[in-house]
Amino acid sequence: MAKIGQDIALAKQLLEQGELVAIPTETVYGLAANALNPDSVSRIFETKNRPAFDPLIIHTDAIEKVGRFVLEFPDPLKLLAEAFWPGPLTLLLPRRPIIPDLVTSGLDQVAVRIPSHPLTKSLLSTLDFPLAAPSANPFGYISPTSAAHVQKQLGEKIPYILDGGKCEVGLESTIVGMEDGEIIIYRLGGLELSAIEARVGQVQVKTHSSSNPSAPGLLESHYAPRKRLILGDLEAMVSAHIHKELDFGVLSFQRKFRDVPHNRQVQLSESGNLREAAQKLFSAMRELDELEVDCILAERLPDEGLGKAINDRLQRASAGN
Ligand code: TXA
Ligand code: MG
Repeated sequence: MAKIGQDIALAKQLLEQGELVAIPTETVYGLAANALNPDSVSRIFETKNRPAFDPLIIHTDAIEKVGRFVLEFPDPLKLLAEAFWPGPLTLLLPRRPIIPDLVTSGLDQVAVRIPSHPLTKSLLSTLDFPLAAPSANPFGYISPTSAAHVQKQLGEKIPYILDGGKCEVGLESTIVGMEDGEIIIYRLGGLELSAIEARVGQVQVKTHSSSNPSAPGLLESHYAPRKRLILGDLEAMVSAHIHKELDFGVLSFQRKFRDVPHNRQVQLSESGNLREAAQKLFSAMRELDELEVDCILAERLPDEGLGKAINDRLQRASAGN
């Protein structure tokens, strides 16, 4: 307990000095800075190599604090906040001028989330500013779900990683907003569509970059490994690649391939559990990306529950192939 207290104190001190700190959340690790300090926020963009047109989510620890940052909290979104915060839900709300332009890329809405990871919750409760935090990966690469993932790519560039273990959800938050009185899902994520619809009725899903230039994080090619990821009929692709004597890795939902070395294949959940699959997805993609192979062969998961968000990430990871 004393150890945890010291970690949080160090993170707090650095953040108050305007530094960046990687923080654990239940979804993925974030690269955090004082959201109200434009200099600190600009360092997030530099460190990630992120284009300034891609806005950031601000994180806070209490629903009562949200009014400091937003002009309005429409009832349907408040209902979702009350039901699912702290948790993997981000809401787009009209921002107050206190939020720097850089955070929202000049848009008049700000993305807000209350994460549930206990370390980050305690950290946020000791700060008198919200934390702007994108996923703690270089722009375009797979999001980190452990402190080791962050260390590997950004360790040299940031003074501190608050280690909170493996992320429980493993997929980024679901992003929800409103247009003309209708609820819109801009990014599928760790909170299932069905859970949202159970509260507020049917919603629209608008997650394509072409129809949604205001959420540029939804660029079609994103969350991508460096190796080519090919999505399709796994059985057929595996046979064809073996036949042609190609070196490949396999990302499957449940099944094991007898003719593929076991260290070249990952099953996301042998028992077919979508939560387990979500939790493992990004670390599995990273693991396969590090093999000496030419490509990664993968399959879609059932299009239900978290399977929808997992398929969205697989699709984006394979874009451009
Ligand atoms: O689970 C998560 O959401 C993680 C953890 C760290 O909280 N964060 C995360 O941030 O995934 P990031 O920056 O990798 O993705 C946030 C996306 C942006 O790329 C953008 O698409 C959308 O949120 N976004 C943020 N602010 C927005 C705004 N004002 N209007 C529209 N979209 C916005
Ligand atoms: Mg990201």
